[in-house]
Parts: sequence; structure tokens; C-alpha cells
Amino acid sequence: MSKEKIITAIDIGSSKISTIIAALTDNKISVIGVSGNVPSQGIKKGNVVDIDDAVQAISNSLERAERMAGVSVSSAFVTINGSHLETLNSHGVVAVSHQGAEITNEDVARVTEAAQAVSLPSTREIIHVIPRDFMVDGQDGIRDPIGMSGIRLEVETNIIHGSATAMRNLAKCVEQVGVEVEDMVYVGVASAEAVLTDTEKDLGCLLVDVGGGTTSVIAFHEGSPVYSDVLPIGGKHITSDLAIGLRAHMEASESIKIKLSEERESLSPLERDMNSEDLDVSGFGLDMEKVPKKLLYGIIDARLNEIFSLIALEIKKADLQGKLPAGLILTGGASLTSGIERIAKYVLKAPVRIGYPKGVTGLIDEIEGPAFAATVGEVIYGSRLIRSGSLLSFEAGRGKIGNILSRLLEKAKSFLP
Ligand SMILES: Nc1ncnc2c1ncn2[C@@H]1O[C@H](COP(=O)(O)OP(=O)(O)OP(=O)(O)O)[C@@H](O)[C@H]1O
Ligand SMILES: [Mg+2]
Repeated sequence: MSKEKIITAIDIGSSKISTIIAALTDNKISVIGVSGNVPSQGIKKGNVVDIDDAVQAISNSLERAERMAGVSVSSAFVTINGSHLETLNSHGVVAVSHQGAEITNEDVARVTEAAQAVSLPSTREIIHVIPRDFMVDGQDGIRDPIGMSGIRLEVETNIIHGSATAMRNLAKCVEQVGVEVEDMVYVGVASAEAVLTDTEKDLGCLLVDVGGGTTSVIAFHEGSPVYSDVLPIGGKHITSDLAIGLRAHMEASESIKIKLSEERESLSPLERDMNSEDLDVSGFGLDMEKVPKKLLYGIIDARLNEIFSLIALEIKKADLQGKLPAGLILTGGASLTSGIERIAKYVLKAPVRIGYPKGVTGLIDEIEGPAFAATVGEVIYGSRLIRSGSLLSFEAGRGKIGNILSRLLEKAKSFLP
């Protein structure tokens, strides 16, 4: 690929809409337009609840990024999120078409298609089919079987599917802004692209994107995703707990929460419990000047405890206990909440780090925080699809079953090394 291509990614979050426009060259993704913090409207817990409001917010975010980049965007990658998302692991088997000869691209496409032959109700739509492991004549652990000899080809895949209605409504919002949806990407898949190292994915880890209205989870084992889920709980719940506890407005509670997290707490659990300092909250419109930090920690810790206890249940549900030695990687805006690493470590008894997005260059000042993991990761994901030449538009894929299949197969192939 010699010519520069432009790629656009929009992350439609419950708190903010962020857009990145990047120029794609052979080995670099250079951000040329960005809009990080347009407040979200019409989106609750990852789902569209008011199309007009959502369209307005998406349009504001896109326009800002377009102005900065000096380009007009006609198509974009879009994240999908919400507790309607589910995963399953599925197995496919085919006979290699030209026996004795080499396994071809087409055989890989057929076996991935065979793995998709799971019975999902018509209300569900497949978002990702990710090949995890190929087997040739019984030999497993094969990452890329193309070019090998064999008779029987098998694949283990991880399938991520969502509510067809939720996906249609999201697409509708983006189309009303005059932008074609190139592809939808699950927030967990996107964030993982920007945040996880290959070692973490190989060893086994859990990526947790704690946003405003959702906590999106994706587990990796032996290099590939094995499980995903979205919990309808996030940073906004911490803010509203503080609002109730302090009898304050949401805006004031949000500012207090952020101010506390900016102090980069390094207290041990006991010191945190015993802390007798106050936080200066003058100027936040409360009828008090100071609030005891111990009170704030108490409110925040209770909600964080709940979030990580739910994640512990997810790990159990997915049968992943003991299979995540690289531990938890926390990202998303609310991963900056004061004390979050300590509580995650305490509840899950696993190593924990905060994941900042990496992998793009250019105008990145506005998108360096963990809140932008999904947007940055979406650009990286989309770039790989474009580079591998395997892009077929989302809308083109809607029309005919054949097209839907080829879109999914091409996407699946892009996960191959
Ligand atoms: N410094 C900080 N300390 C604590 N919380 C923070 C900080 N910065 C942002 N947050 C919280 O992060 C949340 C927003 O995160 P993010 O921008 O990742 O959400 P989103 O992607 O819009 O939402 P979602 O992914 O749930 O749809 C808000 O609840 C906000 O209060
Ligand atoms: Mg998000």
C-alpha cells in the first residue's frame, strides 16, 4: 500500500463521544483530527435511547474532528457496547478441498463459516467471529494453516453477537449524520487492541473497560479472546452514590470524584480507612467547604467492591479461574477512580494495572488517557482490516446473506497473524 488512506473511528460512549481521524501509511497510523470530549446524549448504558439526541452528539464530535483534519468523512468504524452483547465458542470442521495439496484461503473461509453455523435466534446478529486455534488432521495449536498440507481442517472460534435491533439503531444514528458504517467493533475488542501486550494475551488476562454507564469485559487465553460480557454499571454510578451521600448535585459530585482521583492515592487499605484528612470542596457549590476523605473513600470503595465482585462472578461463569495469570488490565475513564487498583487486587487476588492506549502517533494529546482506549483501538483494528484488504461495508453486508457471510469471513481472516 503506497497511497495514504484516511480512517475514521467513532466511539459512542455513555459519557462522551470521541472521534479519531487518522492517516494510514505502510507502517504508521498518524492522527490528524480528533475530538475527545463531546458529552454524550441519547445513549444509556451503551445503548441508543434517543436517536435525535444521539445524532446531534455524534455530529458535534465528528464535525470537530473533521475541522481539525481538514477532511470530510464519508465512512467510519463505530464501536458497539451494551449488556445485550454475548459470546460463545464454536467449533468448525471441513475436508480440505484439494486433498494432498495445500490448505488455501478458501478452506480457512469455509471452516470459519462452518463454525458460525450455530443456531442464533433471528433477533441476534454476529459481530465478530474470531478464529482462536486451527487443527490440521488432529494436530492443534496452529495459528495459520494456509499453505500446510492436510485432509481435515478444524477451527475453534470465539463468536461475539448482539441484539439486531440495538445494532440497527446505532447504525441509523451514524447514517443520519451522513456517514456510512464501515464496521462495528465491540468495545472490548477495540480497547484490547490499544492496551494489551502480546504477552498478556498469550498468558491469559482480563481486560476491563470501566466507562460511564458500562463495564465491558473481554478475556484472552493463549493469545485470543475466549469470553466477553458487558455489565450495565460504571463511573456514573460512583458519581450518583456520591451525590446521594453528600446531598450534592451530580456535577459537583463528579468534580469531587475527579479531584480525589487526581491526588494519586498511595495509601494502604488501613491508612485509607484511618485517613483523617479533609478534601477542600470550596467552589463546587456545596454548603460545606471541606469533606472528610474517609467518607468519600467509603462511598467510592463500596461501589468499586460491587463492580469487582461482579467481575469475579464473570470469571467464575466463564470458567476462567486460574487461567488469567497476567491478571486484570483496567482501562476506560473510570479506571482512574481513586483506589481502583487496590480494590481490584483485593477482590480478585490478581495482578492489576491501568491500561493506557498505545499504537498511534500524531495529534494524540487529547486521547492519551484510558478513556480513549476504545477509540484508539478501533483505529488500530480498522487499519488492520484496511491493510489486509478485507473491508466490506457494514451496509453492503446487510443486504444479502452471502455478503454478510463474506464480510464476517474477511473480518475473521484479519485476525490471522
Ligand atoms: N480522573 C477521573 N477519576 C475518576 N473517574 C473518572 C476520571 N475521568 C473520567 N472518569 C469517569 O469515567 C467515566 C467515563 O468514562 P469513559 O469516557 O470511558 O465512558 P464512555 O466510554 O463514554 O462510557 P461507556 O463506555 O460506559 O459507554 C465517567 O463516569 C467519569 O466520571
Ligand atoms: Mg466506553
